[in-house]
Amino acid sequence: MRSFLPVLSLAGLASACQRDFSTPQHTHRKPLVRRATQFPPVLSQHETLLANSFDANSIDDWAHYYGHENKLAGLGKAAAEWTRDRWAENGVDASLKTYHVYLSYPVHQSLSITYGNGTSSEVKIQEDELPEDDATGQEGNVPTFNGYSASGNVTAEYVYVGRGTGADFERLVDLGVDLDGKIALIRYGGIFRGLKVKNAQDHGMIGAVIFTDPADDGNVTVAKGVAAYPDGPARNPDAVQKGSVLFLSTYPGDPTTPGYPSHEGVPRTDPSVVTPRIPSLPISYRAAQPLLQALNGHGLEASAVNRTGWKGALEAEYRTGPAPGVKFSLNNQMEGKITPVWNVIGFINGTNSDETVVIGNHRDTWMRGGTGDPNSGSAILVEFTKAIKKLRESGWNPKRNIVLGSWDAEEYGLLGSTEWVEEHVDWLKETAVAYLNIDVAVSGPRPGLAGTPELHTLATETFKKVIHPNFGAFNISLYDAWQTVYAGKGRVEPLGSGSDFTAFLHSGISALDLGSGQGAGDPIWHYHSNYDTYHWMATYGDPGFHVHSAIGQYLSILVYHLVTDTIIPFDIPVYTTELRGYLEDLDDAIAASGEEIDTAPIAKAIDVFDKAANAIDALAKTAGSSKDAGLIKLVNSKYRDFQRGFVSQGGLPNREFFKHVVTAPGLDTGYAAVTFAGVTEGVQYKNYDVAREWVGKVAGGILRAAEILAI
Ligand SMILES: *[C@@H]1O[C@H](CO)[C@@H](O)[C@H](O)[C@H]1NC(C)=O
Ligand SMILES: *[C@@H]1O[C@H](CO)[C@@H](O)[C@H](O)[C@H]1NC(C)=O
Ligand SMILES: *[C@@H]1O[C@H](CO)[C@@H](O)[C@H](O)[C@H]1NC(C)=O
Ligand SMILES: *[C@@H]1O[C@H](CO)[C@@H](O)[C@H](O)[C@H]1NC(C)=O
Ligand SMILES: *[C@@H]1O[C@H](CO)[C@@H](O)[C@H](O)[C@H]1NC(C)=O
Ligand SMILES: *[C@@H]1O[C@H](CO)[C@@H](O)[C@H](O)[C@H]1NC(C)=O
Repeated sequence: MRSFLPVLSLAGLASACQRDFSTPQHTHRKPLVRRATQFPPVLSQHETLLANSFDANSIDDWAHYYGHENKLAGLGKAAAEWTRDRWAENGVDASLKTYHVYLSYPVHQSLSITYGNGTSSEVKIQEDELPEDDATGQEGNVPTFNGYSASGNVTAEYVYVGRGTGADFERLVDLGVDLDGKIALIRYGGIFRGLKVKNAQDHGMIGAVIFTDPADDGNVTVAKGVAAYPDGPARNPDAVQKGSVLFLSTYPGDPTTPGYPSHEGVPRTDPSVVTPRIPSLPISYRAAQPLLQALNGHGLEASAVNRTGWKGALEAEYRTGPAPGVKFSLNNQMEGKITPVWNVIGFINGTNSDETVVIGNHRDTWMRGGTGDPNSGSAILVEFTKAIKKLRESGWNPKRNIVLGSWDAEEYGLLGSTEWVEEHVDWLKETAVAYLNIDVAVSGPRPGLAGTPELHTLATETFKKVIHPNFGAFNISLYDAWQTVYAGKGRVEPLGSGSDFTAFLHSGISALDLGSGQGAGDPIWHYHSNYDTYHWMATYGDPGFHVHSAIGQYLSILVYHLVTDTIIPFDIPVYTTELRGYLEDLDDAIAASGEEIDTAPIAKAIDVFDKAANAIDALAKTAGSSKDAGLIKLVNSKYRDFQRGFVSQGGLPNREFFKHVVTAPGLDTGYAAVTFAGVTEGVQYKNYDVAREWVGKVAGGILRAAEILAI
């Protein structure tokens, strides 16, 4: 569900697959030092073989295939089999793994508005077929809907609630806006959509309508004179962002089988802990404009509400309403069922059977297209298996196991990956070295990264080895694109959620999420819309599929080193630096709250971790240049296992799935990470006893990780 949005882009472009970014938070985290690059890069023989194996034309073919298939979760068996067969042709031991999961499908969706004068009109919720874009006219472009939305037929006045964050609702309550029994009109962006619906439900509202706002498209808009897709790079006014409304920050995976795999016939729990009780529908910006206009002159003015991200770019006052007698009739009928979904799992076993690197991408989409989300990654993985085949034909074999996952049902809430991890968690805890996630590999030209700190050095140094094909007239490395043009500012983001790394990370496995996204001025990617298609990608997103090729080269060189290097290429001291930055951020949050909370136990634990990190780092250098198999094994086992320490303290309050004490999705963000979430959110929600208890647990997790590293 997610993609990388560079810092210079605007708030609110979304991933469940796409993460929505709000304004970057103030942080004490230190940027990685910008290091010199050699250009063009000098590659080893194996790296050259891998890089040369990527062929933009065949990636184009794979993208074309995926871009015209029905891959909605539960309906995508043909694409699963095709993926298995392509991988198998390249020597991967691949097969389908089925789970029986709870999903919901649209049966009837409609929305109408009744004005104060009594006249009613239907609100358009369909996305038209575009003659220029063959994928938009295929069957299987199911109507616009929200996965896991409640069924309901409600009629009521409505209130505009901004982005629908917890803070937006708090402000409306403080200002005395009557929400009870009303329908929420919510702007997309900032937080995961399911949490917008949850916040509305928690405030007594009886339905939700979520719209895209062109303010999130910066200058690339019809209002600023840019032609809309398919005629130009601006957003098509009728584009609708579909997506799941699962309460992602409570737990992902099959909502009826929390904590265990969804095999046929297993006991099931009531999903309503993580699914809404109120109906919702997503709509386009063209459909939203008259609905906002009907609130002009009613309720509070935007300036009185005074919240960031409140006023968008449509021709309306963005007042709260309600307007007397102006009502929505929202009818959403869904059919829930337990139905099979299909992961494809592939093995290339290494000589060290107890060391495994997993690479995953989801395959399912909301519509025929999905060429950005996630099939840019799916196409790259097929080409990746071809590159690995060539490398094996040259006589190379991996030391470590490579496992490939093509996940199903990610869009509904990370189902395929979560169920697979739940089934194999013991084996993963014994052998997993790292999980690399590639979801929206390409939705624009700007490379982005999020990951656990010990992978930062490998990830950014490998950026230097790959040429970025299309920044203006000259080519530069991905590293320079990330550091300067992309303005990543030298920071690799911590992992929140919104994609398939989640179950791995919270089982204590190192993880990296990579891709290339859109920034200010770039063509607008139609996230979760029927217009995220092959035609869009080939025309605007990545003509010639060269960025796809570069990201594939990058992935293959990363994997190569992770499964080949004598010592697993982790940089543990970077973890200490990051921990210190997170602690400074936490201390700021505590100071702002005015509450006394002593974080000295965390500071002391970081000091202990620091010593262990420096010692193992020194030992790794000795081991790497020795031929001492026992020493090499010792260092590698510590590198592989130390993350398990961070998940040793039990899960976060009321959401036990999330076990990592250092990073987790925010309770009210869903996508974006909150560091030391047990403490930080204890402070945020004024549960100071919980915060104090979690100071001990965070310190405990850090000490446990240090203990695993200690020589
Ligand atoms: C009722 O109000 C709507 C919205 O202002 C307007 O478009 C419509 O023409 C009005 N109908 C009549 C009959 O006045
Ligand atoms: C939905 O509710 C409206 C208004 O109460 C009603 O007229 C309509 O018949 C209902 N539709 C269905 C399918 O129940
Ligand atoms: C939009 O264009 C204006 C005027 O050229 C420029 O100052 C501004 O930075 C641009 N905004 C974005 C988000 O690119
Ligand atoms: C709006 O909020 C900001 C930040 O909280 C505050 O500084 C400012 O005074 C507020 N403006 C009004 C008009 O209330
Ligand atoms: C590769 O390893 C997996 C996991 O241990 C095992 O199930 C599979 O049989 C192995 N495959 C081969 C060909 O050895
Ligand atoms: C940049 O890379 C593209 C794609 O690999 C290639 O076609 C082009 O010739 C390169 N341009 C320069 C100036 O090297």
